[in-house]
Amino acid sequence: MSAKVDLAPLRVAVLASGNGSNLQALIDRLHGGGDVEIVRVAGDKPGAKAFERAAAAGIPTAVFPLDDYADRAARDAAMARQLRADGVDLVVLAGYMAILSPRFVAEFDGFIVNVHPSLLPKYPGLNAIERAVEAGEQETGVTVHHVDDGVDTGSIIAQEPLAIMPGETLEELTDRVHAVEHRLLPAVVGRIALSRHEA
Ligand code: GRF
Repeated sequence: MSAKVDLAPLRVAVLASGNGSNLQALIDRLHGGGDVEIVRVAGDKPGAKAFERAAAAGIPTAVFPLDDYADRAARDAAMARQLRADGVDLVVLAGYMAILSPRFVAEFDGFIVNVHPSLLPKYPGLNAIERAVEAGEQETGVTVHHVDDGVDTGSIIAQEPLAIMPGETLEELTDRVHAVEHRLLPAVVGRIALSRHEA
C-alpha cells in the first residue's frame, strides 16, 4: 500500500563538461514540472556548451576548474559545499568527464547517478560506442547507474539495448545512442523523484 503525499520537488544538480545534450533533455522533460527542479549546473570546463543551456533555462551555474585548486580533492570539496548550500538531493552526471574524489562520492552516497553509452559492465570509460563497434558487437545500448569510486562500476538502475545496424556509420549510431540516453536518463530521474511519494 502506498500513499501519495505532496512533496517539494527533488532538487537536482547536473554535472556536465561538454555539449550538455543530456542536460537539455532533463531541462525539457523534467525541469519545473513539479517533481524535479534543477537547482545547479556545475562542471569543470569553463565555456562548456552545457553552461549556455543552463543559462538559457535560468538555472544557476558554477565552474570548478582543476587549475584553481590544490588538487582534485580540494576542487571536489568546494563543489560539494556549493551543492550542499543549494540543498541538492540528487547529483546527476551527464557527460561529466572528471572522476569524482572518494570523499565527494561518500558525501552524496547513493544519490549520484551517471549515464553511460554502453551496456555496462561492457565498455566502461571513454569512446564506449566506438569500442563496441570495433569489437564487432551486434548491439550496444545505454546504462544509467549509481556512482561509486570506480569508473562506470556502480550498481545498474536501468539499461536499454540498441541493435548496431550493418553499414551504419559511427555518427549515425552515436545519434541513435544519444536519443536513447535523452529518454532513459530523464525517465530514471523522474522515477527517483516519484519514488519519494511511496510511503
Ligand atoms: C553521453 O554520451 C554520456 O553518456 C557520456 O557523455 C556523453 C555526454 O553527452 N557520459 P552530452 O554532453 O550530454 O551531449
